Amino acid sequence: MSEAEKLGPDYELDLGWMDQTGPWDTRAEEGRNGLTLADIQVGEYGRVPDESDNQTGRPRGSAPRSGSYRIGNYAVRTKSEIWLDNASFLYEEALQRQWSSATDVPWHTIEPLPDDIEQAQCQMATFLTEVEFVAGDVPARWVSQTTPDFFEARQLLTAQVMDESRHMDVFRKRAMANGGGLMAATGATSGFVGSIDLSRDFTEMSARLHISGEGAVLTIFRMGELMAYNDAEKAMYRLCAQDEARHVAYGVMHMRYMAETAPERHEEINCYFDEAEAGILSGSANPAGQAPILSEPLAILLGGGIAKFDEGFKKLVALRRRQIQEYKKRVVSAGFGARFENGRSRINEILEQAAAA
Ligand SMILES: [Fe+2]
Ligand SMILES: [Fe+2]
Repeated sequence: MSEAEKLGPDYELDLGWMDQTGPWDTRAEEGRNGLTLADIQVGEYGRVPDESDNQTGRPRGSAPRSGSYRIGNYAVRTKSEIWLDNASFLYEEALQRQWSSATDVPWHTIEPLPDDIEQAQCQMATFLTEVEFVAGDVPARWVSQTTPDFFEARQLLTAQVMDESRHMDVFRKRAMANGGGLMAATGATSGFVGSIDLSRDFTEMSARLHISGEGAVLTIFRMGELMAYNDAEKAMYRLCAQDEARHVAYGVMHMRYMAETAPERHEEINCYFDEAEAGILSGSANPAGQAPILSEPLAILLGGGIAKFDEGFKKLVALRRRQIQEYKKRVVSAGFGARFENGRSRINEILEQAAAA
């Protein structure tokens, strides 16, 4: 019996769906890096609306269906609120550079360390586990708030969530890999880190998370070589830095797009940078003023033990200065450099003081 006969003798094929297509005769061609998201932005399918009225989860470019529920009730439906020009590129990069915290970190290279170093490393690992938890949780919330018409930006956020999940587990693994364990929660998530989650707007969130928060963490990861005592720790910081650079790039590229397409929001966005700088300055200007649970482990790791705390502390001051310099570069690159020329930002003052010290 044929499949059609199984449906019953009176069944007639409908085939109405065959007339309901998006633009037809599409032939997306793979490029040098395979068939990427950029390669399928062909004709109508590549057109991203400035405003999206899609509330039904309809894939961009497909034929609409009448009588659909409002599936998503998406809050983010204005392109400038979430878009960045190179979302497709960053997404493909994220896919190609996924790594395994189980097998890409040479865990066997970890050997017993002096107690103070092990404790400092475990305290840092505990802190970073907390931070990475927020870094995954917050973008995840915004994924479901965004219209599917902006799926490139949306999928890049989904890729970030996967990255952060791995960061969270790699530091947890480090805490447990060498006779130590998790130490006290630092409470980082109740201060600035936690405030990221209170953002009412995606761009506000991105300024806090991508540019300010993850920017500062990226500097720490980039200096990971100085805090590492074996190849496993080196690999851990290096691989995380690679992912983190992509997350920071999201924020910078989004801000740039926003600066170009929504000049009416300049003032408001400068307020987010004011807030970010207040946080950075209070920590960077005076590392000693930071909670010991955050500054002491870093200084001990950078110096090489409690006995070399002073040396480590000097390196910590240099790390904080580098965090500010890199933050400033990002804000300039995002199109908001005027704040450093017109006296709005206090960053220059701090950098000059640091240079004179
Ligand atoms: Fe991360
Ligand atoms: Fe990140």
